[in-house]
Amino acid sequence: MARLLLIIGGGIAAYKAAELIRHARKMGHDVTPVLTEGGAHFVTPMSLAALAESPVYTSLWDLKDEAEMGHIQLSRAADHVLVCPATADMIAKMAAGIADNLATTLLLATDKPVTIAPAMNVKMWQHPATQRNVAQLRADGITVLDPDEGAMACGEYGPGRLPDPEAILAALPLQAPSASPFGKAGPLAGKHILVTAGPTHEPIDPVRVIANRSSGKQGFAIARAAAAAGARVTLVAGPVCLPTPPGVARIDVETAVQMRDAVMTALPADAAIMVAAVADWRVEGAATQKLKKGKGAPELKFAPNPDILADLGEHPNRPALLVGFAAETNDVIDNATAKRERKKADWILANDVSGDVMGGENNRLHLVTATGVEHWDEGSKDAAARHLIDRISQELS
Ligand code: C5P
Repeated sequence: MARLLLIIGGGIAAYKAAELIRHARKMGHDVTPVLTEGGAHFVTPMSLAALAESPVYTSLWDLKDEAEMGHIQLSRAADHVLVCPATADMIAKMAAGIADNLATTLLLATDKPVTIAPAMNVKMWQHPATQRNVAQLRADGITVLDPDEGAMACGEYGPGRLPDPEAILAALPLQAPSASPFGKAGPLAGKHILVTAGPTHEPIDPVRVIANRSSGKQGFAIARAAAAAGARVTLVAGPVCLPTPPGVARIDVETAVQMRDAVMTALPADAAIMVAAVADWRVEGAATQKLKKGKGAPELKFAPNPDILADLGEHPNRPALLVGFAAETNDVIDNATAKRERKKADWILANDVSGDVMGGENNRLHLVTATGVEHWDEGSKDAAARHLIDRISQELS
Protein backbone atom coordinates (compact mmCIF):
# COMPACT_ATOMS: atom_id res chain seq x y z
CA MET A 1 0.00 0.00 0.00
CA ALA A 2 1.01 3.60 -0.40
CA ARG A 3 2.77 6.01 1.96
CA LEU A 4 1.04 9.36 2.15
CA LEU A 5 2.55 12.57 3.50
CA LEU A 6 -0.48 14.59 4.61
CA ILE A 7 0.02 18.33 5.09
CA ILE A 8 -2.84 19.90 7.04
CA GLY A 9 -3.38 23.61 6.47
CA GLY A 10 -5.07 26.07 8.80
CA GLY A 11 -8.76 26.14 7.89
CA ILE A 12 -12.03 25.02 9.41
CA ALA A 13 -11.96 21.99 7.06
CA ALA A 14 -8.85 20.72 8.89
CA TYR A 15 -11.10 18.55 11.07
CA LYS A 16 -11.89 16.53 7.93
CA ALA A 17 -8.19 15.62 7.69
CA ALA A 18 -8.72 13.43 10.75
CA GLU A 19 -11.49 11.59 8.91
CA LEU A 20 -9.29 11.32 5.84
CA ILE A 21 -6.54 9.67 7.91
CA ARG A 22 -9.07 7.16 9.25
CA HIS A 23 -10.22 6.25 5.72
CA ALA A 24 -6.67 6.07 4.36
CA ARG A 25 -5.65 3.76 7.20
CA LYS A 26 -8.71 1.57 6.55
CA MET A 27 -7.59 1.31 2.93
CA GLY A 28 -4.21 0.08 4.16
CA HIS A 29 -2.17 3.24 3.45
CA ASP A 30 0.45 4.68 5.83
CA VAL A 31 -0.10 8.33 6.68
CA THR A 32 2.51 10.74 8.05
CA PRO A 33 0.79 13.96 9.16
CA VAL A 34 2.45 17.37 8.98
CA LEU A 35 0.47 19.97 10.88
CA THR A 36 0.90 23.67 10.13
CA GLU A 37 0.68 26.28 12.86
CA GLY A 38 -2.75 27.30 11.51
CA GLY A 39 -3.90 23.69 11.28
CA ALA A 40 -3.03 23.20 14.95
CA HIS A 41 -5.73 25.75 15.84
CA PHE A 42 -8.33 23.35 14.46
CA VAL A 43 -7.02 19.84 15.20
CA THR A 44 -4.56 18.61 17.77
CA PRO A 45 -1.38 16.67 16.99
CA MET A 46 -2.52 14.14 19.57
CA SER A 47 -5.68 13.11 17.71
CA LEU A 48 -3.84 12.99 14.37
CA ALA A 49 -1.04 10.87 15.84
CA ALA A 50 -3.57 8.47 17.36
CA LEU A 51 -5.46 8.05 14.08
CA ALA A 52 -2.33 7.82 11.92
CA GLU A 53 -0.36 5.75 14.44
CA SER A 54 2.56 7.93 13.41
CA PRO A 55 4.45 10.89 14.82
CA VAL A 56 3.05 14.25 13.73
CA TYR A 57 5.59 16.73 12.39
CA THR A 58 5.03 20.41 13.06
CA SER A 59 8.24 22.38 13.06
CA LEU A 60 11.22 22.81 10.79
CA TRP A 61 13.28 23.79 13.78
CA ASP A 62 12.72 20.66 15.79
CA LEU A 63 16.32 19.47 15.96
CA LYS A 64 15.33 16.06 17.22
CA ASP A 65 13.33 15.48 14.02
CA GLU A 66 16.17 16.81 11.88
CA ALA A 67 18.52 14.39 13.60
CA GLU A 68 16.19 11.44 13.22
CA MET A 69 14.62 12.36 9.90
CA GLY A 70 15.66 15.49 8.02
CA HIS A 71 13.09 17.52 6.13
CA ILE A 72 14.49 16.39 2.77
CA GLN A 73 14.09 12.77 3.73
CA LEU A 74 10.62 13.39 5.16
CA SER A 75 9.55 15.02 1.90
CA ARG A 76 10.71 12.04 -0.12
CA ALA A 77 9.90 9.06 2.07
CA ALA A 78 6.27 9.19 0.94
CA ASP A 79 4.83 7.96 -2.36
CA HIS A 80 2.52 10.93 -2.58
CA VAL A 81 2.12 14.31 -0.90
CA LEU A 82 -1.39 15.56 -0.16
CA VAL A 83 -2.20 19.05 1.14
CA CYS A 84 -5.61 18.92 2.79
CA PRO A 85 -7.04 21.40 3.35
CA ALA A 86 -4.95 23.77 1.23
CA THR A 87 -5.63 27.36 2.29
CA ALA A 88 -5.36 30.42 0.02
CA ASP A 89 -2.20 31.36 1.90
CA MET A 90 -0.61 27.95 1.42
CA ILE A 91 -1.53 27.98 -2.29
CA ALA A 92 0.01 31.45 -2.69
CA LYS A 93 3.21 30.34 -0.96
CA MET A 94 3.44 27.21 -3.09
CA ALA A 95 2.91 29.22 -6.29
CA ALA A 96 5.65 31.63 -5.26
CA GLY A 97 8.04 28.91 -4.07
CA ILE A 98 8.18 30.23 -0.52
CA ALA A 99 9.63 27.88 2.09
CA ASP A 100 9.08 29.55 5.45
CA ASN A 101 7.84 26.66 7.56
CA LEU A 102 8.00 22.86 7.64
CA ALA A 103 5.02 22.32 5.29
CA THR A 104 6.12 24.76 2.59
CA THR A 105 9.72 23.55 2.82
CA LEU A 106 8.63 19.93 2.34
CA LEU A 107 6.54 20.96 -0.65
CA LEU A 108 9.53 22.62 -2.26
CA ALA A 109 11.91 19.77 -1.44
CA THR A 110 9.75 16.85 -2.51
CA ASP A 111 10.32 14.86 -5.67
CA LYS A 112 6.99 13.04 -5.32
CA PRO A 113 3.63 13.82 -6.95
CA VAL A 114 1.67 16.47 -5.06
CA THR A 115 -2.12 16.82 -4.86
CA ILE A 116 -3.81 19.69 -3.08
CA ALA A 117 -7.41 19.90 -1.90
CA PRO A 118 -8.26 23.59 -1.51
CA ALA A 119 -10.92 24.71 0.95
CA MET A 120 -11.72 28.32 1.75
CA ASN A 121 -14.35 31.02 1.63
CA VAL A 122 -15.98 31.30 -1.80
CA LYS A 123 -14.72 34.85 -2.41
CA MET A 124 -11.19 33.84 -1.46
CA TRP A 125 -11.38 30.89 -3.89
CA GLN A 126 -12.74 33.05 -6.70
CA HIS A 127 -10.30 35.90 -6.10
CA PRO A 128 -8.13 36.47 -9.19
CA ALA A 129 -5.00 36.11 -7.05
CA THR A 130 -6.02 32.62 -5.89
CA GLN A 131 -7.11 31.59 -9.38
CA ARG A 132 -3.79 32.87 -10.76
CA ASN A 133 -1.90 30.84 -8.15
CA VAL A 134 -3.97 27.73 -8.86
CA ALA A 135 -3.25 28.06 -12.60
CA GLN A 136 0.47 28.38 -11.76
CA LEU A 137 0.40 25.25 -9.59
CA ARG A 138 -1.39 23.28 -12.33
CA ALA A 139 1.18 24.48 -14.86
CA ASP A 140 3.87 23.27 -12.42
CA GLY A 141 2.38 19.78 -12.53
CA ILE A 142 0.58 19.84 -9.19
CA THR A 143 -2.88 18.26 -9.14
CA VAL A 144 -5.33 20.81 -7.76
CA LEU A 145 -8.69 19.27 -6.86
CA ASP A 146 -11.69 21.50 -7.40
CA PRO A 147 -13.52 22.41 -4.22
CA ASP A 148 -17.15 21.32 -3.87
CA GLU A 149 -19.96 23.80 -4.12
CA GLY A 150 -22.41 24.31 -1.27
CA ALA A 151 -23.17 26.09 1.97
CA MET A 152 -19.99 27.12 3.75
CA ALA A 153 -19.11 27.26 7.42
CA CYS A 154 -18.96 31.07 7.07
CA GLY A 155 -22.61 31.21 5.91
CA GLU A 156 -21.91 31.97 2.25
CA TYR A 157 -22.73 29.68 -0.68
CA GLY A 158 -20.56 28.61 -3.59
CA PRO A 159 -17.41 26.69 -4.48
CA GLY A 160 -14.89 26.40 -1.66
CA ARG A 161 -15.95 23.40 0.40
CA LEU A 162 -13.50 20.58 0.93
CA PRO A 163 -14.69 17.47 -0.98
CA ASP A 164 -15.49 14.36 1.05
CA PRO A 165 -12.36 12.59 2.31
CA GLU A 166 -13.36 9.46 0.33
CA ALA A 167 -13.50 11.48 -2.89
CA ILE A 168 -10.11 13.07 -2.15
CA LEU A 169 -8.52 9.68 -1.56
CA ALA A 170 -10.17 8.30 -4.69
CA ALA A 171 -8.52 11.12 -6.68
CA LEU A 172 -5.00 10.15 -5.55
CA PRO A 173 -3.02 7.87 -7.85
CA LEU A 174 -2.17 5.61 -4.93
CA GLN A 175 -1.66 1.90 -5.43
CA ALA A 176 -5.00 0.29 -6.14
CA PRO A 177 -6.64 -0.57 -2.83
CA SER A 178 -8.09 -4.03 -2.34
CA ALA A 179 -11.46 -2.58 -1.45
CA SER A 180 -13.30 0.56 -2.54
CA PRO A 181 -12.73 3.85 -0.68
CA PHE A 182 -15.79 2.96 1.39
CA GLY A 183 -14.06 -0.17 2.57
CA LYS A 184 -16.73 -2.15 0.74
CA ALA A 185 -15.82 -4.79 -1.77
CA GLY A 186 -17.49 -4.96 -5.17
CA PRO A 187 -16.90 -6.47 -8.59
CA LEU A 188 -14.69 -3.49 -9.51
CA ALA A 189 -12.81 -3.18 -6.18
CA GLY A 190 -9.18 -2.34 -6.88
CA LYS A 191 -9.91 -1.11 -10.41
CA HIS A 192 -9.50 2.45 -11.63
CA ILE A 193 -12.25 3.57 -14.00
CA LEU A 194 -11.88 6.82 -15.92
CA VAL A 195 -15.01 8.50 -17.28
CA THR A 196 -15.52 11.67 -19.32
CA ALA A 197 -18.92 13.34 -19.33
CA GLY A 198 -20.78 16.41 -20.49
CA PRO A 199 -20.09 18.89 -23.24
CA THR A 200 -17.00 21.00 -23.73
CA HIS A 201 -17.13 24.76 -24.07
CA GLU A 202 -14.81 26.32 -26.61
CA PRO A 203 -14.33 30.05 -25.99
CA ILE A 204 -14.94 32.61 -28.74
CA ASP A 205 -14.08 35.49 -26.42
CA PRO A 206 -14.10 35.85 -22.61
CA VAL A 207 -17.93 35.77 -22.48
CA ARG A 208 -19.01 33.61 -25.43
CA VAL A 209 -18.50 29.92 -26.06
CA ILE A 210 -19.36 27.24 -28.59
CA ALA A 211 -21.23 24.53 -26.71
CA ASN A 212 -23.46 21.53 -27.33
CA ARG A 213 -26.57 20.06 -25.73
CA SER A 214 -24.94 17.21 -23.77
CA SER A 215 -26.33 17.18 -20.20
CA GLY A 216 -23.66 14.86 -18.74
CA LYS A 217 -26.39 12.66 -17.19
CA GLN A 218 -25.31 9.40 -18.86
CA GLY A 219 -21.62 9.87 -17.98
CA PHE A 220 -22.41 10.83 -14.37
CA ALA A 221 -24.69 7.77 -14.09
CA ILE A 222 -21.83 5.56 -15.30
CA ALA A 223 -19.39 7.12 -12.81
CA ARG A 224 -21.96 6.57 -10.02
CA ALA A 225 -22.50 2.91 -11.03
CA ALA A 226 -18.74 2.27 -11.24
CA ALA A 227 -18.16 3.72 -7.75
CA ALA A 228 -21.07 1.68 -6.39
CA ALA A 229 -19.38 -1.41 -7.86
CA GLY A 230 -16.30 -0.61 -5.73
CA ALA A 231 -14.08 1.05 -8.36
CA ARG A 232 -11.86 4.07 -7.83
CA VAL A 233 -13.48 6.46 -10.26
CA THR A 234 -12.08 9.58 -11.89
CA LEU A 235 -14.75 11.63 -13.61
CA VAL A 236 -13.53 14.34 -15.96
CA ALA A 237 -16.56 16.57 -16.41
CA GLY A 238 -17.26 19.37 -18.85
CA PRO A 239 -19.43 22.29 -17.72
CA VAL A 240 -22.61 20.72 -16.31
CA CYS A 241 -24.85 21.40 -13.32
CA LEU A 242 -24.87 17.93 -11.79
CA PRO A 243 -23.85 16.86 -8.27
CA THR A 244 -20.74 14.71 -7.91
CA PRO A 245 -21.77 11.07 -7.35
CA PRO A 246 -20.64 9.72 -3.95
CA GLY A 247 -17.10 8.39 -3.83
CA VAL A 248 -16.21 9.79 -7.26
CA ALA A 249 -13.18 12.02 -7.81
CA ARG A 250 -14.37 14.75 -10.14
CA ILE A 251 -12.14 16.98 -12.23
CA ASP A 252 -14.00 19.89 -13.81
CA VAL A 253 -12.77 21.15 -17.15
CA GLU A 254 -14.10 23.50 -19.77
CA THR A 255 -12.42 22.89 -23.10
CA ALA A 256 -11.51 19.77 -25.09
CA VAL A 257 -7.80 20.47 -24.61
CA GLN A 258 -8.26 20.68 -20.83
CA MET A 259 -10.30 17.46 -20.93
CA ARG A 260 -7.56 15.67 -22.87
CA ASP A 261 -4.90 16.87 -20.40
CA ALA A 262 -6.98 15.77 -17.38
CA VAL A 263 -7.62 12.35 -18.94
CA MET A 264 -3.94 11.78 -19.73
CA THR A 265 -2.92 12.89 -16.22
CA ALA A 266 -5.41 10.44 -14.68
CA LEU A 267 -3.79 7.41 -16.41
CA PRO A 268 -3.21 4.56 -15.76
CA ALA A 269 -6.75 3.21 -15.69
CA ASP A 270 -8.17 -0.27 -16.08
CA ALA A 271 -11.04 1.01 -18.20
CA ALA A 272 -11.82 4.36 -19.78
CA ILE A 273 -15.36 5.21 -20.76
CA MET A 274 -15.47 8.29 -22.95
CA VAL A 275 -19.01 9.60 -22.75
CA ALA A 276 -18.32 13.31 -23.20
CA ALA A 277 -19.60 15.12 -26.24
CA VAL A 278 -16.27 16.74 -27.02
CA ALA A 279 -16.36 19.67 -29.45
CA ASP A 280 -14.68 18.71 -32.69
CA TRP A 281 -13.26 22.19 -33.24
CA ARG A 282 -12.11 25.11 -31.16
CA VAL A 283 -11.87 28.73 -32.19
CA GLU A 284 -8.35 29.49 -33.26
CA GLY A 285 -6.99 32.56 -31.48
CA ALA A 286 -10.04 33.18 -29.29
CA ALA A 287 -10.34 36.91 -28.54
CA THR A 288 -8.96 38.01 -25.18
CA GLN A 289 -11.45 40.87 -25.01
CA LYS A 290 -15.20 40.78 -25.66
CA LEU A 291 -15.93 41.13 -29.38
CA LYS A 292 -17.95 44.26 -30.07
CA LYS A 293 -21.22 44.20 -31.99
CA GLY A 294 -20.78 47.36 -34.06
CA LYS A 295 -17.88 46.00 -36.11
CA GLY A 296 -19.81 43.47 -38.23
CA ALA A 297 -20.02 39.73 -37.65
CA PRO A 298 -16.68 38.24 -36.55
CA GLU A 299 -15.03 35.73 -38.83
CA LEU A 300 -14.13 32.72 -36.75
CA LYS A 301 -11.31 30.40 -37.73
CA PHE A 302 -11.46 26.88 -36.36
CA ALA A 303 -8.75 24.44 -35.36
CA PRO A 304 -9.44 20.71 -34.85
CA ASN A 305 -9.60 19.57 -31.24
CA PRO A 306 -7.70 16.52 -30.01
CA ASP A 307 -9.74 13.32 -30.26
CA ILE A 308 -9.34 12.02 -26.72
CA LEU A 309 -10.74 8.55 -27.43
CA ALA A 310 -8.52 8.08 -30.49
CA ASP A 311 -5.48 9.41 -28.57
CA LEU A 312 -6.15 6.86 -25.81
CA GLY A 313 -6.48 4.13 -28.46
CA GLU A 314 -2.85 4.73 -29.42
CA HIS A 315 -1.49 5.68 -26.01
CA PRO A 316 1.38 3.57 -24.59
CA ASN A 317 -0.62 3.49 -21.34
CA ARG A 318 -3.84 2.51 -23.10
CA PRO A 319 -6.46 1.25 -20.63
CA ALA A 320 -7.13 -2.49 -20.98
CA LEU A 321 -10.73 -1.70 -21.90
CA LEU A 322 -11.45 1.39 -23.96
CA VAL A 323 -15.10 2.29 -24.43
CA GLY A 324 -16.50 5.07 -26.61
CA PHE A 325 -19.95 6.36 -27.39
CA ALA A 326 -21.38 7.11 -30.80
CA ALA A 327 -24.30 9.48 -30.82
CA GLU A 328 -25.83 9.14 -34.27
CA THR A 329 -28.98 10.26 -35.97
CA ASN A 330 -28.80 7.76 -38.86
CA ASP A 331 -27.05 4.47 -39.81
CA VAL A 332 -26.41 4.08 -36.10
CA ILE A 333 -24.76 0.64 -36.08
CA ASP A 334 -22.73 1.12 -39.28
CA ASN A 335 -21.33 4.42 -38.05
CA ALA A 336 -20.54 2.97 -34.62
CA THR A 337 -18.77 -0.03 -36.15
CA ALA A 338 -16.60 2.23 -38.32
CA LYS A 339 -15.88 4.46 -35.30
CA ARG A 340 -14.75 1.49 -33.19
CA GLU A 341 -12.12 0.61 -35.75
CA ARG A 342 -11.07 4.15 -36.56
CA LYS A 343 -10.53 5.09 -32.90
CA LYS A 344 -9.03 1.72 -31.87
CA ALA A 345 -11.64 1.35 -29.14
CA ASP A 346 -12.68 -2.04 -27.77
CA TRP A 347 -16.33 -1.21 -27.45
CA ILE A 348 -18.58 1.47 -28.86
CA LEU A 349 -21.98 2.16 -27.37
CA ALA A 350 -24.17 3.42 -30.15
CA ASN A 351 -27.17 5.52 -29.31
CA ASP A 352 -29.74 7.05 -31.58
CA VAL A 353 -29.97 10.73 -30.66
CA SER A 354 -32.57 11.61 -33.27
CA GLY A 355 -35.17 11.71 -30.40
CA ASP A 356 -34.78 13.45 -27.03
CA VAL A 357 -31.88 11.38 -25.65
CA MET A 358 -29.67 14.45 -25.19
CA GLY A 359 -30.82 15.93 -21.87
CA GLY A 360 -33.57 13.32 -21.53
CA GLU A 361 -33.84 10.64 -18.84
CA ASN A 362 -33.91 7.52 -21.03
CA ASN A 363 -31.49 5.90 -23.41
CA ARG A 364 -31.37 2.92 -25.76
CA LEU A 365 -27.89 1.57 -26.33
CA HIS A 366 -26.37 -0.93 -28.74
CA LEU A 367 -23.02 -2.40 -27.74
CA VAL A 368 -20.69 -2.83 -30.70
CA THR A 369 -17.68 -5.08 -29.98
CA ALA A 370 -15.12 -6.91 -32.13
CA THR A 371 -17.42 -9.92 -32.23
CA GLY A 372 -20.85 -8.41 -32.88
CA VAL A 373 -23.64 -6.16 -31.67
CA GLU A 374 -25.83 -6.44 -28.54
CA HIS A 375 -29.08 -4.51 -28.58
CA TRP A 376 -29.96 -3.42 -25.04
CA ASP A 377 -33.48 -2.60 -23.88
CA GLU A 378 -34.52 1.01 -23.64
CA GLY A 379 -34.41 2.21 -20.03
CA SER A 380 -33.27 4.98 -17.71
CA LYS A 381 -29.73 6.31 -18.03
CA ASP A 382 -29.07 4.82 -14.57
CA ALA A 383 -30.22 1.38 -15.74
CA ALA A 384 -28.05 1.66 -18.88
CA ALA A 385 -25.10 2.65 -16.67
CA ARG A 386 -25.57 -0.33 -14.35
CA HIS A 387 -25.83 -2.68 -17.33
CA LEU A 388 -22.61 -1.28 -18.78
CA ILE A 389 -20.79 -1.56 -15.45
CA ASP A 390 -21.95 -5.20 -15.11
CA ARG A 391 -20.52 -5.94 -18.58
CA ILE A 392 -17.27 -4.14 -17.73
CA SER A 393 -16.97 -6.08 -14.44
CA GLN A 394 -17.30 -9.37 -16.35
CA GLU A 395 -14.75 -8.22 -18.91
CA LEU A 396 -12.16 -7.11 -16.33
CA SER A 397 -12.57 -10.05 -13.97
O1 C5P B 1 -16.21 11.12 -33.48
P1 C5P B 1 -17.30 11.23 -32.48
O2 C5P B 1 -17.36 12.54 -31.74
O3 C5P B 1 -18.66 10.84 -32.98
O4 C5P B 1 -16.92 10.09 -31.40
C1 C5P B 1 -17.61 9.92 -30.22
C2 C5P B 1 -16.75 9.24 -29.19
O5 C5P B 1 -15.44 9.77 -29.20
C3 C5P B 1 -17.25 9.47 -27.79
O6 C5P B 1 -16.85 8.38 -27.00
C4 C5P B 1 -16.53 10.74 -27.38
O7 C5P B 1 -16.43 10.88 -25.98
C5 C5P B 1 -15.18 10.54 -28.02
N1 C5P B 1 -14.53 11.78 -28.46
C6 C5P B 1 -13.39 12.19 -27.83
N2 C5P B 1 -12.74 13.32 -28.26
C7 C5P B 1 -13.21 14.03 -29.31
C8 C5P B 1 -14.37 13.61 -29.97
C9 C5P B 1 -15.02 12.49 -29.51
O8 C5P B 1 -12.97 11.55 -26.87
N3 C5P B 1 -12.57 15.12 -29.71
